[in-house]
Amino acid sequence: MEFTTSTVTPEKASNACLILGIYDGNKLTTSAAIIDAASSGLIKKVLKGGDIKGKPGQTLMLHQPEGLACQRLLLVGCGKEKELSDRNYRKICDAAAKALVTSNAKDALCTLAELPLPERELDWRVRQIIEAFGQASYRFDQMKSKKPEKKATLHKINFPHTGRAAGALVKLGILQGRALVAGMHLSKDLSNLPGNVATPSYLADQAKILGRHYKSIKTTVLEEKQMEKLGMGSLLSVSRGSRQPAKLIVMEYKGTTARTKQKPVVLVGKGLTFDAGGISIKPSAGMDEMKYDMVGGASVFGTMKAIAEMELPINVVGVVPSSENMPDGDANKPGDIVTSMSGQTIEILNTDAEGRLILCDALTYSKKFDPDVVIDIATLTGACVIALGGHATGLLSNNDTLAGKLLEAGQKCGDRAWQLPLWDEYDEQLKSPFADMANIGGREAGTITAACFLSRYTKEYTWAHLDIAGTAWKSGANKGATGRPVPLLTQYLIDKAKGN
Ligand code: BES
Ligand code: MN
Ligand code: ZN
Repeated sequence: MEFTTSTVTPEKASNACLILGIYDGNKLTTSAAIIDAASSGLIKKVLKGGDIKGKPGQTLMLHQPEGLACQRLLLVGCGKEKELSDRNYRKICDAAAKALVTSNAKDALCTLAELPLPERELDWRVRQIIEAFGQASYRFDQMKSKKPEKKATLHKINFPHTGRAAGALVKLGILQGRALVAGMHLSKDLSNLPGNVATPSYLADQAKILGRHYKSIKTTVLEEKQMEKLGMGSLLSVSRGSRQPAKLIVMEYKGTTARTKQKPVVLVGKGLTFDAGGISIKPSAGMDEMKYDMVGGASVFGTMKAIAEMELPINVVGVVPSSENMPDGDANKPGDIVTSMSGQTIEILNTDAEGRLILCDALTYSKKFDPDVVIDIATLTGACVIALGGHATGLLSNNDTLAGKLLEAGQKCGDRAWQLPLWDEYDEQLKSPFADMANIGGREAGTITAACFLSRYTKEYTWAHLDIAGTAWKSGANKGATGRPVPLLTQYLIDKAKGN
């Protein structure tokens, strides 16, 4: 889909669709008032009919509006003008995008970015609209033998602006929105692919493709032999239980205008392409969803793509340890003790707590990039789903400044996180009489003890952990990957590139 901006005024628009906001109580937005005046009161007449009341997210499509050059009018309820919030604004954008995508219109002029949100700039407002269109138009039908019939595709959205400064902001919003949608779509595609397709080798190939496509990204893939040499006994113990060889995928992004010496942000994403639990095997109901145990890795791919599209002036390294967790005859057994790359030994009391086993070696490996900060992203614990549900990502960090920045980035883009404590009291739950630590800390505070485990490998740098077990995908009739936390990570990097 193409996004453009121009100085066209709404009454002159000859698009297939013109999108206008209506406030609660039949109050007109600026553009709706202009159109009303240009069409001898058409909008007010429609509102009198009562089919739309201006509630946030309501929509009404009108065809061949008299006295206007456009072929359709899409009226979108915006709620009370004084109650415009980030959340309501997203609802409004989502509703408009859904209505337009399911219509037959080929292009549209969208005036919704004019809504006066306190504290939010025009670029932000444009970006939300583009994200809404990205969300509404996403389909995953690669695995269907017959592609569902395509609607006459919507291929262009124009955003009107007045004045040079506004034009620049709209363009920035378009650049960022487009890049973010591309990153989210990549992340969703990789995530939605089944475990028999999206294997560690497949992910490694996709990373190489990304490296070929963008000059700014250099991809290297470490094979099991190389991991063995590095002493990654913990990661390799997990992949021993599977016939698919593990891969350690490294993607290095260098922003052209970033000073070459600038220390990178390292993003470490759990790329577990299927988690059967290993010998501590999971119950079979719903086990299919464990193909999503690589969304942390997929979100690193998506974020790399988004920042490469934006040409963000910053240095970022993506590290994705990728493996299956299966119950082969050579798999980890409860009670096994393995030695990690850091030299620390781990008593594996539950082979289903495998995410931390592959992440710990990737985190130790990340030191070699001399990172400014390291952020790991993982569908790590079922406990996080219980604690925070599908709304917030769990955040734990050894540095409150970094945590604060991530929380703020999440607020800004609507992909929110919530911080949990990383206290020594919890760490004690990991004690093992036989090894340096156990890989589980009991039923209580499972998300925190998992993070405590990781924190034993991140002492030498500033680090944050994102547990996305609840936010990475949705179950049920509309099941599928959400694309989170690509927005959160990308927003954090945008802010960081700006020097915030
Ligand atoms: N990938 C799972 C975590 C998970 C579970 C994510 C459900 C999303 C939904 C992880 O590898 C796992 O199995 N964790 C165990 C840890 C436990 C054995 C300490 C869990 O959460 O049950
Ligand atoms: Mn597991
Ligand atoms: Zn797992």
